[in-house]
Amino acid sequence: MQAVDRKNGHIDLALNQPPVESEFDHYQLTHRALPEVNFGQIDLQTPFLGQVLAAPIFISSMTGGPARAERINAVLAEACRELNLAMGVGSQRIALETRHLSGMTRSVRGAIGQQPLMANFGAINLPDLASPSDLSRILDPLQADALILHLNPMQEVFQPRGDTDWAGILNCIAEVCAWCPVPVIVKEVGFGLDPVSAQRLLAAGVSFLDVAGRGGTRFDWIERELRGPGAEMPSQEAFDGWGYSTPEALKLCSPHIARSQLLASGGIRHGVDVAKALCLGASLCGVGGAILPAALESTEAAVGFLRQMILDLRTACYGSGVASSAHLNAEQLKVINPGGLG
Ligand SMILES: Cc1cc2nc3c(=O)[nH]c(=O)nc-3n(C[C@H](O)[C@H](O)[C@H](O)COP(=O)(O)O)c2cc1C
Repeated sequence: MQAVDRKNGHIDLALNQPPVESEFDHYQLTHRALPEVNFGQIDLQTPFLGQVLAAPIFISSMTGGPARAERINAVLAEACRELNLAMGVGSQRIALETRHLSGMTRSVRGAIGQQPLMANFGAINLPDLASPSDLSRILDPLQADALILHLNPMQEVFQPRGDTDWAGILNCIAEVCAWCPVPVIVKEVGFGLDPVSAQRLLAAGVSFLDVAGRGGTRFDWIERELRGPGAEMPSQEAFDGWGYSTPEALKLCSPHIARSQLLASGGIRHGVDVAKALCLGASLCGVGGAILPAALESTEAAVGFLRQMILDLRTACYGSGVASSAHLNAEQLKVINPGGLG
């Protein structure tokens, strides 16, 4: 299967993925009957990459390869511009390899204006570059404000002829950090970041980490569906639930990293999930699969989705008696189903 067809398959399957249990549902924000805050004045503003976002929300990296990406990225970029949010594009490997900038042209920068825009490349593909400076071919067309490198070992092992040799990748990441003219962000893709990897990445010079945990898009399921029955691959029963949920990854990683450097994606559905992720130590939340249906519809639909998310976050702060989303912390969170937290 061509790389472009695979990317299209990812989008179609992500839209049709069966529901996944969310560990955010094991937590509840604490209600404050006397909130002592003014709803209209709750401060959601969040500094990120030298700018101040209207809310602690960004669009997670999704589409990069297929021509269809151009439209989806433009819609998401326009929504971010309208609402003053940030966005990452999907993997630019195809663009780098084929020199075809489908979906990655300057038009994404044109659509998003001055808002923070992040480039994306797979860490496993770094050894294929002649030099880290090759990455300027994906940074420059976007005038990228940051470079996201994704870690996807479990996705690769479920893919046909996936890249599964991760030996030496940390060194490659360190070399990119030493060269890169913009901050480097490292993320998972839905299996969660562990604290050992987090600490090694920080020591290598990475500026931000996105835990991208379990609870939303499931690439083991997507790759299995893409390959169909009978393909030789790790068994579903044995690996169902592998990795760290987003709340779990945040709890494990937050003691080792400054809040301002810790991002959370993976199963963020609405503004209450954003509030819970902030309570667990993140400074900013990424939304991926949940916004895809709206992104395929129109800019208005994507704006509507994000506006609702922001309203829900504001309401969660208000109901918890917190004047600023930056003040959300573990005190505003209670576990309502400890048995379910493994
Ligand atoms: C269709 C689709 C394509 C994706 N492609 C990429 C990618 O190219 N690079 C990347 O870093 N993450 C990619 N992701 C992962 C997301 O950025 C995000 O980390 C993950 O989906 C968890 O967030 P979610 O549960 O909100 O979808 C993709 C996700 C989806 C749904």
